[in-house]
Amino acid sequence: MMKSNIPNKYSIDKPIKHRTFLINGKIGTWNGDVVDVVSTLFTENDSDELTVIGSTPKMDEDHALMALDSADKAFGNGTGKWPTMKVYERIRCMEKFVSKMLLKRDEVVKLLMWEIGKNLKDSEKEFDRTVDYINETINEYKKIDRDGAIFQNNGGVRALIRRGPLGVVLCLGPYNYPLNETFALLIPAIIMGNTAIFKPAKHGVLLIAPLLEAFKVSFPPGVVNIVFGRGREIASPIMKTGKINVLALIGHSSSANSLQKLHPQQNRLRLVLGLEAKNPAIILDDANMDLTIDECINGSLSYNGQRCTAIKIIYVNEKIKNEFLEKFSQKVDELRLGMPWENTLLTPLPEPNKPAYIKALIDDAVKKGAKIINKRGGKMKKNYVYPAILYPVKNNMDVYKEEQFGPVIPVVSFSDIEEPIKYMADSNYGQQVSVFGNDETKIGPLIDSLVNLVCRVNLNSSCQRGPDVYPFTGRKDSAVATLSVHDALRSFSIRTFVASKDNESNKEILRKLIDNKKSNFVRTDYYL
Ligand code: G3H
Repeated sequence: MMKSNIPNKYSIDKPIKHRTFLINGKIGTWNGDVVDVVSTLFTENDSDELTVIGSTPKMDEDHALMALDSADKAFGNGTGKWPTMKVYERIRCMEKFVSKMLLKRDEVVKLLMWEIGKNLKDSEKEFDRTVDYINETINEYKKIDRDGAIFQNNGGVRALIRRGPLGVVLCLGPYNYPLNETFALLIPAIIMGNTAIFKPAKHGVLLIAPLLEAFKVSFPPGVVNIVFGRGREIASPIMKTGKINVLALIGHSSSANSLQKLHPQQNRLRLVLGLEAKNPAIILDDANMDLTIDECINGSLSYNGQRCTAIKIIYVNEKIKNEFLEKFSQKVDELRLGMPWENTLLTPLPEPNKPAYIKALIDDAVKKGAKIINKRGGKMKKNYVYPAILYPVKNNMDVYKEEQFGPVIPVVSFSDIEEPIKYMADSNYGQQVSVFGNDETKIGPLIDSLVNLVCRVNLNSSCQRGPDVYPFTGRKDSAVATLSVHDALRSFSIRTFVASKDNESNKEILRKLIDNKKSNFVRTDYYL
């Protein structure tokens, strides 16, 4: 696309040379090496060069450890200002942050499109959903605080039980939801009283820059520290110190495993992880064909299949296989591929090397007997990759097991429902499944098995994370801990309580603590 065809509102006139970071409440300037931020969107005459839209700091181990030190001091082994602060004061900080974040919507949305190629509608949705998530988290935290404002008295012991923070959190998010998924970790972590070091993912980095100031002015020094650079140079040295109490990571299990191993005292490390998935769609012979096809298209191809919840393999009943493949191929071939602001479902893939990987998956499957079913399947021009439907996919093909995280859709036909069930039982992953069908006598027993193989069974709809109030988790290698507005607050905290023998003198102390408001923990008031 020529520069002149880019709407003014979305064009980047000159590269954004971002050089700042946030450590200990100060925005510092980085004078060392930088990393170019390249966009895979076509610009200027289809030249072979990727478009450099800016650069970000390639920070080093010293700065990583400075950020850690700052977070560690702010937590102060649980005695710091932030973890001991009144709940409503932490809530006020968060409200201030969200009001400042809202002012940056246009900037962040534009960068989401350029950096990760997400279409306009979904980029706006990512921003708005994140703001909603923060507001819902504030409300949920008030509820949790309210529930903790009641004394219990059992077996002669009086107790006030609340949820307390865990410590210093290292927060690493994914490139496909660089704002939403990262903040869905960071926000509950800090509101519970933890302190954090946050390093943006490999792609979707510049879009965090406009928010540094909002973090700086909203939270006390050291509560949120934001550094830029490679995982190896930033996250690894931090983990080796043993000072991290929670590793919060959404991304690949290889990163999670290697970071986890670096911690010298693993029992101190809590994990909150969202990892790979290979969610199947199972299409029964009485499925509503039009609805199934629409859901399979959205499920497998929204944001080009680069969602952990995407449908990544389709099992279709042998009896309706031909009709499904024909109609599905036709609809997929009608999809438009364009620039993000054109709001097409398909957009360029942000990882420069992704097309080669997708091609390798297709070639491997074709070599082993699969066919590309749709006419436009697998056509590529730079990072514009047209989705390929592959059939028949067999268990010796890479695409059968690997999480493709991109526009290729393996299809398997089955005559016995035990076949997809066995696939799921043998899989390393266990996040979600979609079941399409209408006969309750078939669906009932199927659901009863599937709920124990994954953590969400979607009936006649594609897989997805939302609404964010519902639990988002997975079995096996797909996740550790549960996220949702409510569950994330639990995942980033631990139950801790004050207990006293039920006698007059203790009662008197508790009464005075409450009446004279001497403790931020022992109190029975709450915030509306
Ligand atoms: O990449 C994984 C995301 O959590 C998926 O969320 O289902 O809302 O796209 P989504």
